[in-house]
Amino acid sequence: MTDHSSGIDGIDTDCITLTRFVLEGQKSHPGATGDLTMLLNSLMCAIKAVSAAVRRAGIAQLYGMAGSINIQGETVQKLDVLANQLFINQMSSSFNVGIMISEENEQVIIVEPKKRGKYIVAFDPLDGSSNIDCLVSIGSIFGIWKVDDDRIPTVKDALQPGRQMVAAGYALYGSGVMVVISTGDAPSGFTLDPNIGEFVLTHKDMQIKPRGSIYSINEAYTKDWEPGVLKYVEKCKFPPEGKSPYNARYIGSMVADVHRTLIFGGIFMYPASKKSPKGKLRLLYECCPMAYIMEKAGGKATDGKQRILDIVPEQLHERSACFLGSKEDVDDLIACLN
Ligand code: AHG
Ligand code: MN
Ligand code: MN
Repeated sequence: MTDHSSGIDGIDTDCITLTRFVLEGQKSHPGATGDLTMLLNSLMCAIKAVSAAVRRAGIAQLYGMAGSINIQGETVQKLDVLANQLFINQMSSSFNVGIMISEENEQVIIVEPKKRGKYIVAFDPLDGSSNIDCLVSIGSIFGIWKVDDDRIPTVKDALQPGRQMVAAGYALYGSGVMVVISTGDAPSGFTLDPNIGEFVLTHKDMQIKPRGSIYSINEAYTKDWEPGVLKYVEKCKFPPEGKSPYNARYIGSMVADVHRTLIFGGIFMYPASKKSPKGKLRLLYECCPMAYIMEKAGGKATDGKQRILDIVPEQLHERSACFLGSKEDVDDLIACLN
């Protein structure tokens, strides 16, 4: 019999695209309707469009500021605005989303009645905005929830803890473009093949090392850290006799810092401080999706007191301290905090 799958000249004729991966997952779950598959297809379309815009930003004059300040009081960049529009439009036209929470919108975005569906999507359309103009890696982050019954979600359904997510992930616009996603199992990584315009499975069932050797934190805020964080970072730098110190890496784009942590192991930290008592990162569309990915990869994510996925949000744009990564590294940090 002829083998149709092995391919010729390094071209895989049977590659697993993200669409195929999600579709196969759907077919293996009896009772699955295909709605999440449709939603994720629309999401991937938004991500490809953002990626194309990021690549063309210099040429299309998309660098620089858009001239407004967002709900967090931060300057909005042109790419932030574009990415937000792409996410909102693609998500609402999937016919499967009821409400959306975006970093760039103060209120929830309610999909028009005839297009409404049962899913709730929270997203940071462009993460790492301060890195746009110097061509350093940026990303997008998303978390997806669902209402249990047949009703359409309301504003109240937007405030669910991360442990109730049905899928989460991120896109990294780096030296390559990659999507890491989990729909409940170990996360998988898909790399964009620009020749065919598809995300192709390159990292199956991703698992983080139990211990790494990299710590990632903005050290400029050392004077405002709580003593436990200081103690932990000191331990990374001054290990016991005979052990090597940890390496320090901090890009300043959460997606890039978290992705490196997932691939190489170690710990990413954005603690609370005297100035920002709940830290900087936002619970629903930054901390929760990343915590979900980390836990599904065998890692750990905490706000220092509890599991990030157990926090019940009270506000759409609520912030949380965030420590995540290799299990043993996060446990060491927790020991210092106590
Ligand atoms: P955003 O661009 O979506 O506002 O997020 C920026 C965030 C996050 O990507 C990163 O981890 C953090 O800001 C960096 O903050 P500092 O500059 O305070 O370290
Ligand atoms: Mn962000
Ligand atoms: Mn953002």
